[in-house]
Formats: sequence, structure tokens, C-alpha cells
Amino acid sequence: MQLLKNTLEIGLEKPVKILHVTDSHIAFADEYDDERKHELAKRFESPERVEYLKEQIAYSKENCDVLVHTGDLMDFVSHANTIKAREILADEHIFFIAGNHEYSQYVGEAWEDKAYRMNSYMEIERYGGFGVPMLWNTRIVGGVNIVGIDNAYQLFEDWQIHHLKKEVEKGLPIILAFHDPLFEQSLYDYHYERVPNDTCTYLTGLDEDHLARYSEFRAYQHRPDEPTLRMIEYIKSEPLIKAILTGHVHFNYLSNITPGLPQFVTGSGYEGRAREITIV
Ligand SMILES: [Fe+2]
Repeated sequence: MQLLKNTLEIGLEKPVKILHVTDSHIAFADEYDDERKHELAKRFESPERVEYLKEQIAYSKENCDVLVHTGDLMDFVSHANTIKAREILADEHIFFIAGNHEYSQYVGEAWEDKAYRMNSYMEIERYGGFGVPMLWNTRIVGGVNIVGIDNAYQLFEDWQIHHLKKEVEKGLPIILAFHDPLFEQSLYDYHYERVPNDTCTYLTGLDEDHLARYSEFRAYQHRPDEPTLRMIEYIKSEPLIKAILTGHVHFNYLSNITPGLPQFVTGSGYEGRAREITIV
């Protein structure tokens, strides 16, 4: 495991420790899954992925108050992956919010939008579900309110803003957890330094100037709609929101969305990355 350690100072009386893990991408298929799922499982499965996850969970239970997993626990929708995910998430130490791969049928083969997500969600339910909420999740740990929001396709929705405001009314400091990082200039630049010709940066909330570098397909897919812009403005303006935990891009990064709001982007869990955040 490649463990990063950070401290977040928000004035807590007693420290709270989070292990942030994301993008585990476990890949299994069984007798209920079709041939294409078996091919994907053969292509992506490696024993290290599950071993790293076990190691991260064991470390967190030993050293942290909660493990926050920000999605892409599984690589694609399958019966076998759903059963495995449910087994993993039955451990109450783990707090989970879904990523885009939780809804991916065959990994990147389709136009992925809300209808596609709902279709996959129904299939996962057909297999008995994850046993925990996928689209919205909250948990109070120590003096901190952890709020998980599904933004798997770089979009937020108005109902999520309503419920986030309800969480703010509880008066506790909030740590947001979602899969796709919010746009921040240095993170955008860093992505293009790493992959200069990439079709997109996978960030949420880009304006037209920044979308201009995207492929037409990705610009259309990742252009923020009105609820998404409203949510980002609300997140930036609410002083009880103290930090954001995200993943999806598979590299570690830390920068500030506003002067008082850090965004922790944690790299690929399937390659052993994890981040321990001590909140004081
Ligand atoms: Fe992802």
C-alpha cells in the first residue's frame, strides 16, 4: 500500500481519522454473467486489486475511525461484482458512495447518462443490491458529518442540493465525498501535463474556455448543467463544508477549491494508493 498522510485543521475537540480509498475496480464474472463480462473479468482482474483493498480495510480498522470509499469499487456491472461489493460493504467500518463504473455495463462502450445509470442501478438491485446507499449517503463520525453524493457523470442534481442543505442544518462540519473532482485550475493543468492530448480531464464544472480543449463528445458529456452549477456555487459558499474527497482520475492531488476548501484527490486504490486524513 502506498499511503499518503495529511492533516486537516478545522478546530475539532477530538481528532477524527479517515482512510480515503477510491477506484478499486474489482472485476469478476460468474455463471449468471454473459460472455462479454467474462472477457472483461479476464482482462481486468488481478489478485492484487482485492489484496490491496483487504490491506486498506485492515489498516483503516486498526488506525482510523472510518474508511471512506469514493466509488469505482467495481469495474463493471456483473452478478459476481455485485455479490463481492455487497460482501465488502457489509463491513460497517466502510462508508461508500458510487462512481461511474458502478453503472458501467461493459466499460466505456455506451453513451452514459442518467437513463443508462438508472438501467444499471436496476440491474444491481435485481442482483440484491449493494446493501448500502449508492446515490446518497451520510454518516456522523466523531464531530464530523460525512456526506456522499453521486456525481458519477460530472453532474449534480437539485434534489442533492436540497438534501445537502438539510445536512448543513445539523450544524456540524461537513466532509463531502464524491467520485469526480471539481474543476480547479492547477488540477486541470496537471492533468494535461500528464496526458497532453487527452480528450478531457474528467473534472466537474468546467466553463466553455476550459471545455474548448475537449473533444466534441467529451465537451457535450461533461458540460455542467444548471443544477450542477448551482451545487458548485453552494459548495463554495457554505462555510461548514470543510473538505472534499474525490477520486476517478487515478492520481494523487491536493489543491484548494476556495481558500478555505481543500479538495483531496486520491489515486487508484487498485494500485495500492490510499490517503489517511487526520482531522483536528
Ligand atoms: Fe471513475
